[in-house]
Amino acid sequence: MSRTPQPHSTAALERAMNAALSAALRGPRGANPLVGASVLAADGTLVTGHHAGAGTPHAEVEAVRAAHAAGIDLTTATMCVTLEPCTHHGRTGPCAQLLLEAGVPEVVIARKDPNPGAAGGIAVLESAGVRVRTGLLEDRATALNDRWLSAVEQSRPFVTLKLAQSLDGRIAAADGTSQWITSPASRERVHRLRALADGVVVGTGTALADDPRLTARIAARAGTDGSPHDSTGLHSRTGGNTEEDTPASQPVPVVVGLRAPAPNSHLARNPRTVHLRTRDPLAALQDLHARGLEHVLVEGGAGLAGALVRADLVDSLEVHLAPVLLGEGRPALAGLGVSTLAEAVRWLPDPAADWDTAPPAAATDTVLRLVPAARDRGSSTPDHAPHTGTAPPGPGVAAPEAVPAASAPAASAAPHSPRKD
Ligand SMILES: NC(=O)c1ccc[n+]([C@@H]2O[C@H](COP(=O)([O-])OP(=O)(O)OC[C@H]3O[C@@H](n4cnc5c(N)ncnc54)[C@H](OP(=O)(O)O)[C@@H]3O)[C@@H](O)[C@H]2O)c1
Repeated sequence: MSRTPQPHSTAALERAMNAALSAALRGPRGANPLVGASVLAADGTLVTGHHAGAGTPHAEVEAVRAAHAAGIDLTTATMCVTLEPCTHHGRTGPCAQLLLEAGVPEVVIARKDPNPGAAGGIAVLESAGVRVRTGLLEDRATALNDRWLSAVEQSRPFVTLKLAQSLDGRIAAADGTSQWITSPASRERVHRLRALADGVVVGTGTALADDPRLTARIAARAGTDGSPHDSTGLHSRTGGNTEEDTPASQPVPVVVGLRAPAPNSHLARNPRTVHLRTRDPLAALQDLHARGLEHVLVEGGAGLAGALVRADLVDSLEVHLAPVLLGEGRPALAGLGVSTLAEAVRWLPDPAADWDTAPPAAATDTVLRLVPAARDRGSSTPDHAPHTGTAPPGPGVAAPEAVPAASAPAASAAPHSPRKD
């Protein structure tokens, strides 16, 4: 087996890494980082792959598949990947080993994996004689997953906050009624969001006011095998008609606050309910992380949601905006601590693709998917190379820079955030 990489210019490698970064944005945010990969063939042909979420093949696997489909000789090709190939035997097998078996002679890595459980790919590749270069477009690869990395560093789950509100920002009317402000299509989407999370979290106010189940109830849809429609290939936790699901397949219901849920409430009767008697949002999240939850969906209400936003603990925000005006009523967020415009908590459209590509049924509501604007993140991605399939060899980006021979230090990370793969 040949292990002779075709030499490529830095500009060509940057083009390939840009394509990998763009491919990464096609994945969903959650327990796993966004990861993309590309294969740069000896003749400049470029194909890409991305990780489509927990339980699905890693980006390297998809890129290798795309390379095979395009007839690329991997033994003379260069693999560019936005995150160090893993070495662990999760649900998808170690990617470093896959690259060795495929005979890839050169791997260019944007940034090291901060997760000790997944890192080590560089050493595995190098010890087998693969040429490894790290640090190419590292800043962009870091920005792509900065909130995921923050969660790892803080030993907490990745947090998605869902707000279902009126046009004037209310989650309940003046008399407390809140069911339903948003449309059935929005509520179905929430059930699909729940199905992708490890836990669904509310404050005690919501638990007491609404008596929610916090289960993922997804109507079986187009799947021919009886499985829920899932055009993304993401593995939902429900796996079927959900009212009859085994409890273990459901996200963990979580209540945060000092008061207990009502004795006969759904949450009190569910033996899997976790009640965290605290008002410290980070402590609550770290407790959940210690229980193995890596991605939680927070569904309010105003008190808990406001506390999480104020503490900068919301990594992804999904707002369902119903064309309804409620005037007086409960605002979506309480206790934000914003007293002047300069203190406003700002958000940006999430550059990552929407995980739910199902056509909106009777979508009267507007769905906003946002990420915190506090730091620059991958949103300025200029490159929109094709996801899979071949991309024509191009001139590459301007102003090529040297590819560092050695990697920059990886961000510090807490030692317990195994990726859910
Ligand atoms: N439209 C929607 O999608 C939606 C979603 C959820 C809720 N709602 C509505 O919102 C209303 C409930 O609002 P809410 O604000 O009372 O709900 P909440 O945020 O669920 O509950 C507030 C309670 O959470 C506890 N808590 C835990 N950590 C906290 C923290 N760091 N800061 C503040 N409180 C913390 C406190 O309870 P303790 O005193 O027990 O500590 C607090 O009283 C209901 O009318 C419900 O129907 C609507």
